[in-house]
Amino acid sequence: MDEFNDRVAVITGGASGIGLAYARILGSLGMHLVLADIEADALDRARNEIGTAARSVITIPTDVSDADSVQALADAAFAAHRTVHVLCNNAGVSVTRSLLTATTADWRWMLGVNVWGVIHGIQSFVPAMIERGERGHVVNTCSVASFTVMPGYGMYSATKHATAAISEALLGDLAAVDAPIGVTAVCPSLVRTRLFSADRNRPDDLREGAPEPSDEQDRVDAITEGIQTPDDVAASMVAAVRAEQLWVFPNRDRLDFVRERMARVTA
Ligand SMILES: NC(=O)c1ccc[n+]([C@@H]2O[C@H](COP(=O)([O-])OP(=O)(O)OC[C@H]3O[C@@H](n4cnc5c(N)ncnc54)[C@H](O)[C@@H]3O)[C@@H](O)[C@H]2O)c1
Repeated sequence: MDEFNDRVAVITGGASGIGLAYARILGSLGMHLVLADIEADALDRARNEIGTAARSVITIPTDVSDADSVQALADAAFAAHRTVHVLCNNAGVSVTRSLLTATTADWRWMLGVNVWGVIHGIQSFVPAMIERGERGHVVNTCSVASFTVMPGYGMYSATKHATAAISEALLGDLAAVDAPIGVTAVCPSLVRTRLFSADRNRPDDLREGAPEPSDEQDRVDAITEGIQTPDDVAASMVAAVRAEQLWVFPNRDRLDFVRERMARVTA
């Protein structure tokens, strides 16, 4: 897909980090934006930041882990606009914890946002996008952790492996019905965002046994080498959508980790 002007983009997790950078770049290309996020205040700030730089901006508080909430987002997006052209399933959270101590609540929260969030996005939007018959694209924010596993990040990797598989399978399923809709799985490595303070959005009923607050966000904020900005990731995303490219690794230096892992898998 290479025509963005006057088209419609929906971005989940659009109030912060990578999602907000997607909003900035897609807005600058003349798109109508529908920003969805669980943080209503941050959504207001995002709308004020983007202002008239996009063709239009509407914000819809949404919990992507809740099917009804995502369906309400889709209903609002299709009611406001004739169709949706770019769906960015981007909202995500992270809990750093050994699988030996991870609780059911940790797993439920991570799977709910990172995996069910993508599934709900596909279910609520893609059939309606196909029905409209226009060229479109689904962007799933995956991760280098979709192909690698690090100590403490087992749950996160598991969720991101799932979103990579879902992305590739979705592309095949769309091709099988000749739908003019592409798929891009964006696989960033470390990006300067608020992901490591994701706990701010953890629902109370999934908080039991949550890890003690850590200084992980401070440590990530202090890293200067090998870390990208959300705008770097957004620029790679747009280039991949234009090129109809499934996989995009915004920081190609990190591909070595993927190659090493695949070499171990196939040894
Ligand atoms: N930051 C990194 O190093 C990095 C690396 C690879 C992949 N990613 C992925 O990028 C995506 C965006 O994260 P980010 O790094 O910009 O973090 P971020 O915390 O800055 O942004 C994530 C956004 O998702 C929203 N969100 C959280 N739970 C939600 C829910 N239930 N429903 C709707 N919105 C919700 C948050 O409010 C926030 O605005 C995530 O999928 C993350 O896994 C991040």
